[in-house]
Amino acid sequence: MKLLVCGGAGFIGSTFVRQRLLEHGDEVTVLDKLTYAGRKENFHDFAEHQSFRFVHGAIEDAAAVASAIELGAPEALVNFAAETHVDRSIAEPDAFVKTHALGTYVLLEAARANELRCVQVSTDEVYGSIESGSFTEQSPLQPSSPYSATKAGADLLVQGYFHTYGLQASICRGSNNYGPYQYPEKLIPLMVLNALHGDALPVYGDGMQVRNWIHASDFARAIGHVLERGVSGEVYNAGGPDEEANIDVVKRIVAATGASESQIDYVRDRPGHDRRYSLSSQKVRALGWEPRVRFAEGLEQTVAWYRDNAWWWEPIRSGDYRAYYERQYGRALA
Ligand code: NAD
Ligand code: TYD
Repeated sequence: MKLLVCGGAGFIGSTFVRQRLLEHGDEVTVLDKLTYAGRKENFHDFAEHQSFRFVHGAIEDAAAVASAIELGAPEALVNFAAETHVDRSIAEPDAFVKTHALGTYVLLEAARANELRCVQVSTDEVYGSIESGSFTEQSPLQPSSPYSATKAGADLLVQGYFHTYGLQASICRGSNNYGPYQYPEKLIPLMVLNALHGDALPVYGDGMQVRNWIHASDFARAIGHVLERGVSGEVYNAGGPDEEANIDVVKRIVAATGASESQIDYVRDRPGHDRRYSLSSQKVRALGWEPRVRFAEGLEQTVAWYRDNAWWWEPIRSGDYRAYYERQYGRALA
């Protein structure tokens, strides 16, 4: 297949591109704005692949989208491009509205004009929080942060284009991802790197919030299944095999890194913090997908990857991320 992958320089997007190039023999053009979270380092092992092309540009820029389509002549478009951190969406929602609303609209117009099949990558957070049981694709959308509200808006726009214009588009909603190449603002890499450096481990509120963890390689494969076998107009949830409270995740990381539980620091809770996420994935399983990585094993591998790949995170941890960390946590990194 010839694919246009928007946001392919990020954590999950680059994992997906790697799979499609190396395991499926696809031709891939990435369009990415290279925000703080988008990094060419994520292409290190396939940058020179003959079927890989990169266009630096924003999804809200119609000219950039047109040139990526001209270069790659794709049959399908997979959209990962997003602002993805809830805490940043609370502090500065502006880019979230622009990328998710305007950016998705520009992509949908281009897909319509060029008759591209689309997969919109989305999140369980559009459903809001659930005390018990799991969200299905029929659950109402009740987002609670500027991040999830704007992601829900993008999903609704995709569905509007399907119903109104017959655009061939499906949506794939994942639960919390983890694995190599995740920017260290997110819970797992933040705790791993802080643990390795002897920094405090900032747990929001009581640490009893539950997340449904999926390895990024499993989510990327689910998106591939939806791309190849998904029905247009349909939503597919892809949740991981395990759920765990944040404090238990942090304690696993402390054990895996040889850090001390005395580094755990309970800090002020995130405003509007969702208590629990959980996804039912029956519908995507019916397309032949199964998660392969259990959390305990995947977390050990992820800790080992960060320990062995300082070349990847060192420039982040010594760059703008330090200023972000001080703004967000009111303290400096070691
Ligand atoms: P990420 O923050 O690592 O990467 C986002 C990528 O999008 C970056 O490469 C960035 O440069 C690019 N980007 C941002 N704005 C852009 C714009 N306007 N135009 C072009 N490129 C732009 O994010 P991620 O964790 O890889 O998430 C990818 C997608 O998966 C997102 O849509 C996110 O909502 C969804 N998702 C993430 C998770 C998770 O736990 N990380 C879970 C479910 C769904
Ligand atoms: P995060 O990785 O930001 O993902 P999301 O908000 O999309 O679920 O956070 C995962 C969980 O970890 C969430 O309940 C918030 C919590 N958390 C902390 O307790 N401390 C932190 O420093 C961070 C970044 C997150």
